[in-house]
Amino acid sequence: MKVLIFDTEKEIGDAAGKIFVDLVKAKSNAVIGFATGMTPVPTYNYMAEEYSKGNVSFRDITTFNLDEYCDLPREHKNSFYMFMMDNLFSRIDVKPENINFLDGNAADPEAESKRYAEAIIKAGGIDIQFLGIGRNGHIGFNEPAGAFTDEAFKVRLTDSTIEANSVYFDDVPMPRYAMTMGIGSIMRAGKIVFVATGKAKAQAVKAMIQGEVTPKCPASILQQHKDVTVFLDRDAASLL
Ligand code: GLP
Repeated sequence: MKVLIFDTEKEIGDAAGKIFVDLVKAKSNAVIGFATGMTPVPTYNYMAEEYSKGNVSFRDITTFNLDEYCDLPREHKNSFYMFMMDNLFSRIDVKPENINFLDGNAADPEAESKRYAEAIIKAGGIDIQFLGIGRNGHIGFNEPAGAFTDEAFKVRLTDSTIEANSVYFDDVPMPRYAMTMGIGSIMRAGKIVFVATGKAKAQAVKAMIQGEVTPKCPASILQQHKDVTVFLDRDAASLL
């Protein structure tokens, strides 16, 4: 686990974004796992700027997003699908047919999990996975639990996660459930780029990097991955 500390979110976005851009330049049909939330935005800005400058094309990549809310139309402004369309996919030349999301409204979550796992295998596996972290140490929507999960599944969101995200829901209630990639899905990625900024993440970051590997802090499993680059600002790194 390589830990890099920066002064600003822009510096983090540029440095993390360069890893993704360099990978796509080396492997045009790269399979990329994306995350949502505010933390990834500077990275996505860098990727979109590099595309707009003509320095890279994303036309042959395949994408898989970590998670999606349940009981929310895909086109709702707060869906993770719309977040990705607004913040990245509409700004680069990725092909719509190569964009993959878990269907939060699937009638059969287990069948949906199987479908997603098969789609990832068919794509050749995830080359590089972007990850953020929740204040309680969750990655994707893998909340603190009694055991590490494997494939995608439907999860009841914790009160901490609902509280952190409900600020964005002004027209419909904040969903209580989501579909998320499991820890196994995430750990099978070839490389992981992890970003955390702000004091609110400092405790989770410390537990992730220096704590015991435990499903009570899902992100701690990353200590066992062979290729993780961690980008932090000074606040998120303040307890290390
Ligand atoms: C949500 C997402 C996570 C994300 C987290 C942190 O819970 N499911 O993938 O890492 O929020 O979001 P932010 O970057 O806005 O703090």
